[in-house]
Amino acid sequence: MSLDIKRYTITAALPYTNGPVHIGHLAGVYVPADIYARFQRIQGKDVAFVCGSDEHGVPITIKAKKEGITPQEVVDKYHAIIKKSFEDFGISFDNYSRTSAKIHHETASHFFKKLYEDGKFSEEVTEQLYDAEAGQFLADRFIIGTCPKCGFEESYGDQCENCGTSHNATDLINPKSAITGAVPTLKETKHWFLPLDQYEDWLKEWILEDHKKDWKTNVYGQCKSWIDDGLRPRAVTRDLDWGIPVPIDGADGKVLYVWFDAPIGYISATKEWATREGKDWEPYWKDEGSKLLHFIGKDNIVFHCIIFPSMLKAEGSYIVPDNVPANEFLNLEGNKISTSKNWAVWLHEYLEEFPNQQDVLRYVLTANAPETKDNDFTWSDFQARNNNELVAVFGNFINRVVVLTNKYYDGLVPAPSVFSEIDTQTLDELKAYPAVIASSIERYRFREAQMELMNVARLGNKYLADEEPWKTIKTDEERTKTVLYVALQIASALAVLSEPFLPFTSKKLKSMLCHAELVEASTWNDVSSKSELLPTGHTIGEGELLFSKIEDEQIQTQLEKLQASKKENQAMNATVTPQKETIQFDDFTKLDMRVGTILEAEKMPKAKKLLVLKVDTGIDVRTIVSGIAESFTPEEIIGKKVTVLVNLAPRALRGVDSEGMILMTETPDGKLVFVNPGEEGVQNGATIN
Ligand code: 2FM
Ligand code: ZN
Repeated sequence: MSLDIKRYTITAALPYTNGPVHIGHLAGVYVPADIYARFQRIQGKDVAFVCGSDEHGVPITIKAKKEGITPQEVVDKYHAIIKKSFEDFGISFDNYSRTSAKIHHETASHFFKKLYEDGKFSEEVTEQLYDAEAGQFLADRFIIGTCPKCGFEESYGDQCENCGTSHNATDLINPKSAITGAVPTLKETKHWFLPLDQYEDWLKEWILEDHKKDWKTNVYGQCKSWIDDGLRPRAVTRDLDWGIPVPIDGADGKVLYVWFDAPIGYISATKEWATREGKDWEPYWKDEGSKLLHFIGKDNIVFHCIIFPSMLKAEGSYIVPDNVPANEFLNLEGNKISTSKNWAVWLHEYLEEFPNQQDVLRYVLTANAPETKDNDFTWSDFQARNNNELVAVFGNFINRVVVLTNKYYDGLVPAPSVFSEIDTQTLDELKAYPAVIASSIERYRFREAQMELMNVARLGNKYLADEEPWKTIKTDEERTKTVLYVALQIASALAVLSEPFLPFTSKKLKSMLCHAELVEASTWNDVSSKSELLPTGHTIGEGELLFSKIEDEQIQTQLEKLQASKKENQAMNATVTPQKETIQFDDFTKLDMRVGTILEAEKMPKAKKLLVLKVDTGIDVRTIVSGIAESFTPEEIIGKKVTVLVNLAPRALRGVDSEGMILMTETPDGKLVFVNPGEEGVQNGATIN
């Protein structure tokens, strides 16, 4: 890491343009990135904060198929919605671009060509999964199967959403086409691979040695586990018709893998911005004095810490990230946020229901940010944080200062007389805050930073409560002036220090306090270095409420909306899956299903979903690994009679040989239940036919 930082290149994950953005996106990526970028700008730093829409890849094609429109129509629709949401929430990108932009196609093609010409790829004809019915190769999200690492049964071809592992589609166990449901066949095709194994030594040194201490433990831990498992070549091209065409001869019908082109989108977005601003983009990506940071969610870690850095290293002229402060996930009312299940708070809808209350959401999401573990957003916490913290602490302090100054002094900042010990102590304490908050932001601890900001408001509230200017006004005119002078300094410090976190509030407060450029022009460090931010004789404006109370009915409406989504999902799940292809009686008789009893059950270490069972099948007692750990505790299933498919070929899951399958079904709300083998009295080993 360079000690002398000349500029900051800050990137935020390019969102897929297959749906609008929700609170999980905001909490995990965009608010922290924005706090960081705004903070550096107030410090007078040179910042390029870039993002854009990720418009290629299978998710877009799937959405287009579902909605019966073209992929281009999908990306145009959601690009506009997403871009507006970011603007509405004050995410201060210097440029929000899109990967369908010409500049991006050129940049990504050029990058690929350079690596190709420099011999950085291996070219291989391999057998890939193919859906004969759909007439297409099955890449990435077009294929679903069991993750070879954790046993999750709905892993995608390129990445398992459960354990985060990135793999090749052919690694999946029991793969199925997401298009037709068919079991794929293998077909030969040529692709270009980035030999990640060749970068293993460099990655080891760069991450495991150099960044051991300054990267977040969740990020470091994931990287270490992948590197320790050994890296393998990764295909960077795909047989798809939506994406950037592979820019070399002999690659007709092939496009760049979306995870090859998307991170290059950060570079294209910087180029686009620099051209617009008459700047040079290259130092932001090629000068060692630039600090490159990627703000992302945890599912993107492998791409930003292993694959993209290897691409940059292979190219040779780029810097690599200084840090990748990835967050964990935000859940909503106890359940995973899900676009397809409409279990989300959509940003555009939030603003319709809570107009002009962007900062409330920004505040709550930061206060509860999933920085070190998954966290839960609840509407009751949202209400409590607004009413008890923003209204009762921050808003109340500002309101009292502004109202009293207007009432006693017609809005003029009064001249202080002699400072008491408490005044000096309070002002000294205030001056210490910029460094405290800055230190937390620099370490990507945004929750902590925002808590310290609120402590500034608490300091002000306590000061007013102790000094009681509304009482001293009757007895001691001079003391009242001093107290309000000090309180006004705290208020103006809040206007400056709140800007990265609560930009709308900060703006409002600045305009309320100054009516001139005084506070507007103040920078972060002025709060500690200047003797005063608001001088005697300066006139402040009228008071206006910064925050307002959120009522129970508003929260109730939100909860009812979520309940409606839940019901809709249950109804949708209740629709019966269409019948599969007809089979012959002989096919059926190949299945050997028996009644069994679970004798022992224990959790599989480090696998959230798996239980290791010992089952008496009547034939023998055998080990079966079952993906039911999220629905049952080991204790509650011991002694349970179950139906077992006993002649399924054994397979290793997490190193344990599983010798059969327990038959399960699901209730409409997604609860797993055992397929009950029938009346009491049936013996273990009884056949089911
Ligand atoms: O997970 C996602 O939503 C991806 N579209 C993130 C891409 S980040 C970057 F590399 F572009
Ligand atoms: Zn997995």
